[in-house]
Formats: sequence, C-alpha cells, structure tokens
Amino acid sequence: MQKLILTKPDDWHLHVRNGAILKAVIGHTARQFGRAIIMPNLKPPIITVSQALLYRQEILSALPENSDFEPLMTLYLSSETTAEEIALAAQSDYIHGIKLYPAGATTNSEAGVPDIKQIYPQLAAMEKSGLPLLIHGEVTDPDCDIFDRERVFVDKVLSSIIHDFPGLRIVLEHVTTKEAVEFVKSQSSNLAATITPQHLLYNRNALLAGAIRPHNYCLPVLKREEHRQALLSAATSGDSRFFLGTDSAPHLRSDKESACGCAGCFNAFAALPLYAEAFEHVGALEKLEAFASFYGADFYRLPRNTATIMLEKNPWQVPNSYDNEKTSIIPLKAGEVLNWQLAS
Ligand code: NCD
Ligand code: ZN
Repeated sequence: MQKLILTKPDDWHLHVRNGAILKAVIGHTARQFGRAIIMPNLKPPIITVSQALLYRQEILSALPENSDFEPLMTLYLSSETTAEEIALAAQSDYIHGIKLYPAGATTNSEAGVPDIKQIYPQLAAMEKSGLPLLIHGEVTDPDCDIFDRERVFVDKVLSSIIHDFPGLRIVLEHVTTKEAVEFVKSQSSNLAATITPQHLLYNRNALLAGAIRPHNYCLPVLKREEHRQALLSAATSGDSRFFLGTDSAPHLRSDKESACGCAGCFNAFAALPLYAEAFEHVGALEKLEAFASFYGADFYRLPRNTATIMLEKNPWQVPNSYDNEKTSIIPLKAGEVLNWQLAS
C-alpha cells in the first residue's frame, strides 16, 4: 500500500457554521488539520473581537475530546468597523485576519461592503497593523456575467486596492481563474491565494453538463477546464503564494436541493484525500506537503506544525450523506470512490 507522511496541514479557509451544523462538521476538520482560518459569515456576522472570542469558545466546546485543533478567528469587514476594533483585532492572539465580502457576492454576504471606497479607512488601519485582509474576489454588478466576476474583480478592484495600499497583506480566497493566478504571480509576496479541492478536481461541466448538480455549486462558480489546469499548475508549482484553503461550506441538504439552492460544497470530511487525488493526477504528490502544511503558516507568520499525519492509498466509498438527528449534509463526491484516506 502506498503511504504518504506529511507535516500536519492547516486549512486556511473554512466554514464551520454554529449550532448543530458546527457539531456535525468540526470533527472532520480536527482529524486532519492542526488549525483552520474560520470564516466569519454567520447570521448575524462576526463583526467584533468579542463576538469572535465567543464563537471561538463555541468551536472549542464542539471539538471531539482530546483534540488539539486550533481555530484561527477572523472578523467580517463592514463599513462600520472602527479603527479601535482593528487595533484590538491586530493585538489579539486569536484573530488572524479580516474578511471582505462584497455585498451580495455569496452566502451571508448581505452585510458586506457595497463600495470598496467606503472601507478605505479600515484598509489603511489594517495596512498599518499588518493584519491580513482576506478577500472574496468577485464583483457583484448584475450586468457582469457570473463566470467573469472574479476576473473583473481582479482587474478593477483588487489591482486598485494593491495600488492604494501597497503594504497591505492580502489573501485572494478560493481563486478559480487563470487570470487570478497570473495576477497573483505578478505581484509581491504581500499577495497570496488559497485554492479549494473542488476547483482543482472539477470544471463547470461537473455542475451543468447533462444535469444540474447542486452539490457541486459553490461560489466562485466552477470555471472552464483551462482555468482548472491553471489552478493545478499553480498549486503544484512550489510557488509559496498558493496554499490550501478548502472553503468547505456545509449547508443542510434541504437548502442545497432547492429551487433556490445555497452555494457551498462540503469537502471537510476528506479534504486531504481530495487534494491528494488532484495532485496525484498530475504526478505532483511530492508538492502536496508544502502547499498543505508550510506556505499558509509562513504567510500568516505562524509556526509550522511539528506533528505528522499519514495518508494511505486504500480506496473507500464516500457516504451518500452525513446524517445525524438534526442535520443531513451531502458531501462532495457522495457515493463515489476516493483512493486516499487518512491512516488511523
Ligand atoms: C460559502 C458559504 O456557504 O459560506 N459558499 C461558497 O459557495 N463558497 C461562502 C463563500 O466562501 O463564498
Ligand atoms: Zn468561503
């Protein structure tokens, strides 16, 4: 049996929700990862440091016994966010970034930012304090085609943020296009990007060809094959500006299989096996460790983990659904066979 030993990885972009969904999903992440950047798009969003600390406690309480998993908290950027709050966040050992959601771009982004100029004072404060800005990089202009929204954001919005705040440290989250990859490569190491397993494994046919598959629907939406190829090249290139961020975004089955279905893929149940599959397809398994375990920690100026985990090539069937009394969540690749699994 083929085995792969890696330094314990971290997930630099994760949604765990709260309440019953949190309890249903957190153990999957804690099994595979040392730490994860926790997204703040709850309802209502996590805007203040004190809300983030309460949410952190809720996550810690939901962890399996004896887990040493560490949630790395973030705030949700709003035009109401004060300079004092940013200073508090920057001083806190528990807050590691502030997330910019363009208003209306994705799940629970209604409270986000309608116009980037409105948050220039906040960006200036973040640039000064060194706290990273995490960006959902899509424009929300209704006249802009859904498949073009990331490219246009990079071109129009991200480039002007970088121009106006050259010292701001930025993560362009879940990149999905070759244009975003090229842009990141063209900039300094102040700009990095996360890449999800679904965008490495699928192009938009997986969403729309022959049938509509709501469990492959996430935002930014899956793109053409040429973009998937560009993401695979970036992830396996050894360029430290690209690192692992699953964007695992669980929704109840009923909210996904709906006339107006939610965006988000649940991949945390097998995040590492999914990445291993993508890297193996292009013969780059030896590049997985740095992408999963080194580059993100380096960007966030945190120590790399020292523990290790082992993956083994031992095919298993993904359950059709992860169910308990309160929740039913359909995983990515439900019912399909995955080649890799975490060794117990
Ligand atoms: C995420 C969610 O459900 O919170 N959905 C998604 O499609 N990725 C939000 C996000 O990261 O865009
Ligand atoms: Zn996300």
